Amino acid sequence: MEKILVTGGAGFIGSHTVVELVDAGYTPIIVDNFSNSDSNAIRGVEDIIKRSVKVYEGDCNDLQFMNDLFITEKNITGVIHFAAYKAVGESVGKPLEYYQNNVGSLMILIDAMKNHNVENLVFSSSCTVYGQPDHLPVTELSPKKVAESPYGNTKQVCEEIIEDVVKSNAKFKAIALRYFNPIGAHPSSKIGELPIGVPNNLVPFVTQTAARIREELSVFGDDYNTPDGTCIRDYIHVVDLAKAHVKSLQHFNNQKTPYFDIFNIGTGKGNSVLEVVKTFEKVIDGKLKYKVDPKRPGDVEQVFGNVDKANNELKWKAELTLEDSLRDAWNWQKTLM
Ligand code: UD1
Repeated sequence: MEKILVTGGAGFIGSHTVVELVDAGYTPIIVDNFSNSDSNAIRGVEDIIKRSVKVYEGDCNDLQFMNDLFITEKNITGVIHFAAYKAVGESVGKPLEYYQNNVGSLMILIDAMKNHNVENLVFSSSCTVYGQPDHLPVTELSPKKVAESPYGNTKQVCEEIIEDVVKSNAKFKAIALRYFNPIGAHPSSKIGELPIGVPNNLVPFVTQTAARIREELSVFGDDYNTPDGTCIRDYIHVVDLAKAHVKSLQHFNNQKTPYFDIFNIGTGKGNSVLEVVKTFEKVIDGKLKYKVDPKRPGDVEQVFGNVDKANNELKWKAELTLEDSLRDAWNWQKTLM
């Protein structure tokens, strides 16, 4: 069984991907520093896969640690690199921490991979690289915009670093997956999103409001140039997203080195904030308390992806609906109450 190193494997997307890797016959090895995750996620994963998973607690920024890991775990064939900071607003106040953690750790990781002849890398990128696109849906060829935040910039810079490494090294294959908005939780409700403190993202705020942890949801702006005035995003179920990583690893088998490509990973469909609220109300069969507040600085009006390339080349397609995602997110929230 192929061994895959999953950095940030205790995190939201990482933990769901570990489950899908096992399901597809891979052996995942997790490395996580637990700075924004919880060892409960590992227990949840083990509960789902019904076996233990190997976990190394440590930092991808530590070259010695990463080299030792590749030596101890011989024959790692690929890496999925999730480990990163992800709060857009926080990155504005802590740019150095974001560049160090997100860009620095990628460089250390690639260095360690090269030292141990590990060729395959799947990188977590984001639709944030498109900024506010001029044309929708965005394709992988849509222009990248000047990043709105240090967080967004780290994703752009990381993609460029990977591309340059691939250009320089005949024995390296890499895929950057540009995720749209990952939401939901595993249908078993054993793993899900665990925001620390007040959630920045819409869906955890919605479920915490329904759970009465938050007073009411603030809808950030209702006078955007969209049908109902609220922002539009492409919300994708985290299990569908996790499966795209497995497809990426399988895709490497058909590629020759050097190889680099980028894929949008979304549903291809946009939903407004109010559509999310209405669908959630259907799921809970009740009302969600919300008010309209001013626009959030830095928010783009709308973004959703053209996902034909992933459909055709990775043979991957999102299968779950917004309602599935919100139902699973709510079922997960209920386990935390
Ligand atoms: C942002 C980033 C994305 C990143 C993600 C991770 C951009 C364009 N997108 O996504 O790359 O991966 O954060 O954290 O930088 N909303 C409310 N009320 C709330 C929270 C959100 O109305 O309490 C609205 C927002 O205005 C937005 C939508 O819900 O329209 C989604 O917001 P959010 O979940 O924070 O994700 P993004 O900002 O799209």
